[in-house]
Amino acid sequence: MAKNMTMNPAECAAEIDRILAAHVGREGALLPILHDIQAAVGHVPESSIPTIAQALNLSRAEVHGVISFYHDFHVEPHTHPVIKLCRSESCQARGVDALAETLAGETRVKIEPIYCLGLCTVGPNAMVGETLYARLDAAKLSALVESVA
Ligand code: FES
Repeated sequence: MAKNMTMNPAECAAEIDRILAAHVGREGALLPILHDIQAAVGHVPESSIPTIAQALNLSRAEVHGVISFYHDFHVEPHTHPVIKLCRSESCQARGVDALAETLAGETRVKIEPIYCLGLCTVGPNAMVGETLYARLDAAKLSALVESVA
């Protein structure tokens, strides 16, 4: 199912149950479960943590710890579109810090840092959803903001 941030709680619970059923019993299931839940629901609801913990025989603290450790996971839905801007060394050398400053005061989108998208030679780079944007300059970044806002 595609990301749908308008799911009602019952639909979310059903989707999470489906995802758990698909992964439970597999080694290292927690990260794939969290990724699938976030992809399907748009976030990993706080209310799903006990269910996930029980399904994997983990403590709630262990599940919460993994969610908090990985910056990509979030327990609340994003209220604005997210642009992940690479802040790693190659993109820094290619001017991402100055580029980020052009977004100061931008309230229509949420800018999150990400650390290397694997396109270091064509930076500065960003990602929206699963789509990568390379060779950004102020005009391209502004156009990207306009397109997602
Ligand atoms: S440093 Fe930005 S993509 Fe690698």
